[in-house]
Amino acid sequence: GLVNTREMFARAIKGGYAIPAFNFNNMEQLQAIIKASVETKSPVILQVSKGARNYANQTLLRYMAEGAVAFAKELGCEHPEIVLHLDHGDSFELCKSCVDLGFSSVMIDGSHLPYEENVALTKKVVEYAHQYDVTVEGELGVLAGVEDEVSAEHHTYTNPEEVIDFSSRTGCDSLAISIGTSHGAYKFKPEQCHVDPKTGRLVPPPLAFDVLDAVMEKLPGFPIVLHGSSSVPQEYVDMINKYGGKLEAAIGIPEDELRKAAKSAVCKINIDSDSRLAMTAAVRKVLFEKPAEFDPRKYLGPARDEMEKMYKHKIVNVLGSDGKL
Ligand code: G3H
Ligand code: 13P
Ligand code: NA
Ligand code: ZN
Repeated sequence: GLVNTREMFARAIKGGYAIPAFNFNNMEQLQAIIKASVETKSPVILQVSKGARNYANQTLLRYMAEGAVAFAKELGCEHPEIVLHLDHGDSFELCKSCVDLGFSSVMIDGSHLPYEENVALTKKVVEYAHQYDVTVEGELGVLAGVEDEVSAEHHTYTNPEEVIDFSSRTGCDSLAISIGTSHGAYKFKPEQCHVDPKTGRLVPPPLAFDVLDAVMEKLPGFPIVLHGSSSVPQEYVDMINKYGGKLEAAIGIPEDELRKAAKSAVCKINIDSDSRLAMTAAVRKVLFEKPAEFDPRKYLGPARDEMEKMYKHKIVNVLGSDGKL
């Protein structure tokens, strides 16, 4: 069945790699995630956001994830390690309902609350979830942009002075931190970036690795999570724009920075936007080139293939979780 994150994270930290946490909202994303993780022999975290629950129904998504374990075995993986995780839970009730339904991990995101309220809420979720061996991710610090329906203009980096108190008082199993990543495809403004003379591409300002280092110094060996870690591949942006789309100045996190983070105590890296871009690019291409096509399998199939390729690339070339099953 589904597993929680405890052993997975302990091994990832020791091994110097990170587990991919991919969001899913539909069958094609799920198939692509499972195929990519089976073929690369990687553990994987399936994430369900509040938006995904509203779009697809949490019960249906939960049984799709259960089905994914059987699918992985059918593909030849004897012992798949698949986590079903609630992404950005915003209340005790929501986290409880996911625990009760059979999710193996939940995030309670109290990062926008005053510190003591974040502690109290996270502790309450941990006390409930741990009774059922469900692991809990908490968050300290605020990412710029929209997070959990709360919008912030600037990053508030995680305060390393708070992390020992937070993790010990809440009992959370992992901690999401803010070091300059953000959600979506527009993570930086072009005027914040410089042009790489070799590639001509925009290079964003570096992540705050000093903050990550300070957190790791306070909490040696504690599992750290990075949200907002899509790289916004330029080839997908170009493909979308070539086939009728209009994405202007979409900029993500350079993969080199994620590679560096994956080698540290960062053991969960969240990627959603890159999957959306891969899917949209492939669908647009088919519909542009074959305007008479109206069988959804003819455009969702190529979209699935493109996502699978992208997921494998992340696993093998960025996070390093391949061969760990
Ligand atoms: O945290 C953000 C994730 O990318 C999920 O996004 O709420 O639109 O499903 P969503
Ligand atoms: P991206 O928007 O960078 O893919 O981040 C996803 C995420 O953090 C989900 O929680
Ligand atoms: Na790591
Ligand atoms: Zn997130």
